[in-house]
Amino acid sequence: MKASWSPQEAQTSRQAEEEIPFYLPVGNECALFEAAYRYRLPLLLKGPTGCGKTRFVAHMAARLGRPLLTVSCHDDLTASDLTGRYLLKGGETVWVDGPLTQAVREGGICYLDEIVEARKDVTVVLHPLTDDRRILPLERTGETLKAPPGFMLVVSYNPGYQNILKSLKPSTRQRFVALSFDFPASEAEVEIVARESGFPRERCIPLVNLANRLRALKGIDLEEVASTRLLVYCAILMREGIDPFEAAQVALVEPLCDEVQVKEGLLELVRATYG
Ligand SMILES: Nc1ncnc2c1ncn2[C@@H]1O[C@H](COP(=O)(O)OP(=O)(O)OP(=O)(O)O)[C@@H](O)[C@H]1O
Ligand SMILES: [Mg+2]
Repeated sequence: MKASWSPQEAQTSRQAEEEIPFYLPVGNECALFEAAYRYRLPLLLKGPTGCGKTRFVAHMAARLGRPLLTVSCHDDLTASDLTGRYLLKGGETVWVDGPLTQAVREGGICYLDEIVEARKDVTVVLHPLTDDRRILPLERTGETLKAPPGFMLVVSYNPGYQNILKSLKPSTRQRFVALSFDFPASEAEVEIVARESGFPRERCIPLVNLANRLRALKGIDLEEVASTRLLVYCAILMREGIDPFEAAQVALVEPLCDEVQVKEGLLELVRATYG
């Protein structure tokens, strides 16, 4: 007997299958994803926070018509959180598939976000699935599942705040083809921000230009820079009538740093555009 997996248990989400989420390609990534899917190659996406990795996977899964199961990895995640476990339900012990097992059974796409947060003994569960065997042994039930053609594994991480202890084992890493993401070029980013926020395109142009000037400070004063996500937030606030300087302050400066002097430096640049 099977029961359905409770999403809270593994911070899993399942995408509704009706609509295709908007994604503006910034390079050849859609063709690459499709080729990887066709030839059953596991895919690793890396890039800074808020640059479109999750949206890209959501878009591609919908485009390919596959169910998408997303797991946000963290250091308490166990192999059973991915594969499944026996649970007591109404006095009966029932096996409940984890998201990875569900994706394998359904021929769906399993997306493990922030894979470097998962412990190495957890990531080895992925090994037999990500070489030419494409199998998932479930020790607890004695089953060995063979992944159907529709199954694909996609993982992602942000190399920025990753430390040496949190890198992937080479034997894990070398099971994936890897796509590197970055913030979209200005024109594309204007398109994305306008579309996502509903703020007029011509008013998104100075905002993206400002973001690029702020991003140029990376490494000098800042570790992380304003993401496309934050630009969308900023444009939404402006659209809602918030004063542009204040919108930029709360969406592009405050989320990035706490040091007064650094903030002052960033606000100088904001003032030059919206002062
Ligand atoms: N190419 C794109 N097309 C459409 N929307 C985009 C694109 N790039 C970024 N976005 C916008 O930026 C937001 C953040 O993107 P997303 O959540 O995919 O980032 P991420 O790379 O997964 O970040 P994190 O590493 O923090 O999970 C999206 O919700 C979307 O509004
Ligand atoms: Mg994401």
